[in-house]
Amino acid sequence: MSNLLIHSMTEFSDLILGSLKLSGARRIVEIGAEFGGMSHMLADFVADVDGHLTSIDPAPAPEFVEWAAQSAFVTHVAAPSLEVIDTLSNVDAWLIDGDHNYFTVYNELLAADALCQRDGKPLLTFLHDVSWPTARRDMYYAPRRIPKAFRHPHEFGAGAMLDRVALVPGQGFRGEQAWAMASVSGGPRNGVLTAVEDFIADVGKTGRVLAFARIPAVFGLGVLFDSDAPWSGAIAERVAPFHENPLLASLELNRLRNYLKVIEWQDAAAC
Ligand SMILES: C[S@@+](CC[C@H](N)C(=O)[O-])C[C@H]1O[C@@H](n2cnc3c(N)ncnc32)[C@H](O)[C@@H]1O
Repeated sequence: MSNLLIHSMTEFSDLILGSLKLSGARRIVEIGAEFGGMSHMLADFVADVDGHLTSIDPAPAPEFVEWAAQSAFVTHVAAPSLEVIDTLSNVDAWLIDGDHNYFTVYNELLAADALCQRDGKPLLTFLHDVSWPTARRDMYYAPRRIPKAFRHPHEFGAGAMLDRVALVPGQGFRGEQAWAMASVSGGPRNGVLTAVEDFIADVGKTGRVLAFARIPAVFGLGVLFDSDAPWSGAIAERVAPFHENPLLASLELNRLRNYLKVIEWQDAAAC
């Protein structure tokens, strides 16, 4: 992805680290490290509170692997999240930014929550990519890892356009060979935000209430937490001004329109 387009969770570091501080979190799990931009910030955070960062990513950049191996505060687990979450314990907070599709995110939330319930911890998660293009459209780094029943028809070389349900071959926002997207957006069990909403509804059936804020910038940040956690009021107050903020939403739409125009010019120049 071009560096003309900011896309890391680091853009939300003020909110994320501020919320982690308010919650007193010490043991943090990050799903999806890539180059380790957010991991570096989280490592500094846990070092200050005598905590630990577990970073799960089956295929991060080599510089991240090298850095993590040298840090006393970081453990890199080189596996897909759903294969290893069960092996963890006593996690205070989760950053979820791995494979951006319904099956993976719903099950990451389920597994993280089961662990927290077992260990007597309230749930606190920060989820990236809860806005366009993956709010209502699955993205797959490794489609074969997703069970057939949950894997939507998908394409690698076709891209997402704003306000279009179907992907457009050779145009729009796309991952080429790096990742695929569902051919059609919307409908049941499609997209990260759909996974979060279904998870909240399913937990709600047990009588527990989860709070959720969505910050509509840089592909969207979701903050999901137990509404009766001791720190829930403080975090709610912190994120409330950003929740579905219309100014941020309008800036994000403008940014995406501009970036789609850049892609259009790049595609034309490559012809
Ligand atoms: C968008 S990047 C993460 C960016 C990083 N969180 C940041 O804010 O700078 C997504 C990463 O998720 C990893 N990934 C893909 N599928 C995964 C899975 N099932 N479990 C954990 N990580 C996964 C990819 O290898 C990639 O490095």
